[in-house]
Amino acid sequence: MDYKTIIFEKKAKYVIITLNRPDKLNALNKQMFDELDDAFKKIELDKDIHALILTGSGDKAFAAGADIKELNESDERSGKLFSEYGSYVMRRLAELRIPTIAAINGFALGGGCELTMACHIRFASEKAKMGQPEVNLGIIPGYGGTQRLPRLVGTAKAMELILTGNMVDAQEAKRIGLVNEVFSPEELLPKTIAFVELILSKGPLAVSAAVDCILASEELSPADGLFYESRIFGRTCGTADFKEGTTAFLEKRKANFVGN
Ligand code: COA
Repeated sequence: MDYKTIIFEKKAKYVIITLNRPDKLNALNKQMFDELDDAFKKIELDKDIHALILTGSGDKAFAAGADIKELNESDERSGKLFSEYGSYVMRRLAELRIPTIAAINGFALGGGCELTMACHIRFASEKAKMGQPEVNLGIIPGYGGTQRLPRLVGTAKAMELILTGNMVDAQEAKRIGLVNEVFSPEELLPKTIAFVELILSKGPLAVSAAVDCILASEELSPADGLFYESRIFGRTCGTADFKEGTTAFLEKRKANFVGN
């Protein structure tokens, strides 16, 4: 598929996807969802991709939400499909078993905020503003906002943000646990890439297994989660990377992980 609304850059072992409709503040239209769906599938199928960074083009927005022009055409039935399709694409992202990081370079509102929450980690520029302003449009968040925001910031804070539609700045987003870290606009991407490179220096099977278990904690009971963790732990002990990592420690040298 030729991408027209996103830029897909494959680096050595990771991918940067840039949402690319800067004149519309990178609003998420149907075509962008189609392209993101294709890109996330491509990443899932490629064993050489071990991390994903998502960001927005221009200096104003990560994404200012679902495309309100397209949304405006919806009725009850098509609105449900509109929500289901966006949710499905975000779920594809959320279920990737590689670290996914949103580098939030400006407004992340509505569907834009929801897209960042479908990532595993969020870094924000000092210029970022985040929120779920859907009530201003007479609707509710439709791409997982009512489900993911309370898990990240707690029910009361999610109520406050979703019921008022108020935006938070980057520092407030960090204070409430919505973003992990805040950087200057110039530092946002370099710091995000340095973070990815740190993770890439670890054993890729271990990283992927850890992502898998942490995500399972959102679905499983504590007892089932511990059971699941032990099984996956055992699986990592059967890898060449585990032998290499432990042997390198004992031989006081740097491990050379190969991903087997
Ligand atoms: N959908 C479609 N187009 C959008 C958009 C969206 N969600 N958000 C911004 N745009 C478009 C604007 O219509 C405008 O296009 P135009 O130049 O053709 O008129 C362009 O992007 C620039 O936006 P503008 O509103 O002029 O920028 P601003 O700096 O004055 O305001 C925001 C920035 C983010 C505060 C404002 O654009 C906004 O409130 N956007 C909608 C946010 C929202 O409700 N998102 C949830 C959607 S479900």
